[in-house]
Amino acid sequence: MKHTPPAIIAIDGPAASGKSTLGRRLADALGYLFFDTGVMYRAVTWLALQGGLDVNNEAAVSALAKNSQIEVLPASKDDGRVCDVIVEGRDITWAVRDPDVDANVSLVSTYREVRRALSEQQRRIGLRGRVVMVGRDIGTVVLPEADLKIYLDASAHERAHRRYNEIRARGNEQEYDEILDQVHQRDRIDSTRDVAPLRAAQDAVIINSDSLSADEVFEQVRRLCE
Ligand code: CDP
Repeated sequence: MKHTPPAIIAIDGPAASGKSTLGRRLADALGYLFFDTGVMYRAVTWLALQGGLDVNNEAAVSALAKNSQIEVLPASKDDGRVCDVIVEGRDITWAVRDPDVDANVSLVSTYREVRRALSEQQRRIGLRGRVVMVGRDIGTVVLPEADLKIYLDASAHERAHRRYNEIRARGNEQEYDEILDQVHQRDRIDSTRDVAPLRAAQDAVIINSDSLSADEVFEQVRRLCE
């Protein structure tokens, strides 16, 4: 008898640990929906900055998260995107990767009401099944019933290095040291916040990708799906 792969797959881990690369490949291989929850937090942050809101104003940013329709759709263009991020009919897929968003998204993600608004939508989508959902709190909070939970980790140096290469590949420039500082800072905010902090679920399979290629990580996880 042929095994059915896990219907709900959760992948969590710190910034730039390779979650999106892994998640997307896995979803493609299984014919599942790939859903990167980080883009929703990025979209709220982008909206706040764009609207000239003070990102420290928790009430205003929370209202924005509740009242905005953020759509995450399958990629409509072959320009390296993993999905489309649409807000009020506007394609902000690349705008949410701006350094300004990078610098503020972890603060916005600490807000309880922002998290509530976004994780409710994420949970609804995840419960439909045949999904690979990627984030910080998927296995612990959004979909604790996930059939397979992966926690993908790597050292801060390795992650900063990967982010540096990503930024250059997109034709932009940022100092390595600055990226490393930001990785440290986001790790700290993400793992020490009160609501849904970054941590591995008790039943997660922990993979450290420091000495593994993207192919090797994928192979390991693919075997877990058999
Ligand atoms: O791509 P990268 O790993 O740098 O970040 P991301 O996955 O796009 O997430 C950006 C930020 O959103 C993270 O640093 C977290 O602060 C927040 N986030 C979160 O709090 N919960 C999630 N499920 C996903 C992202």
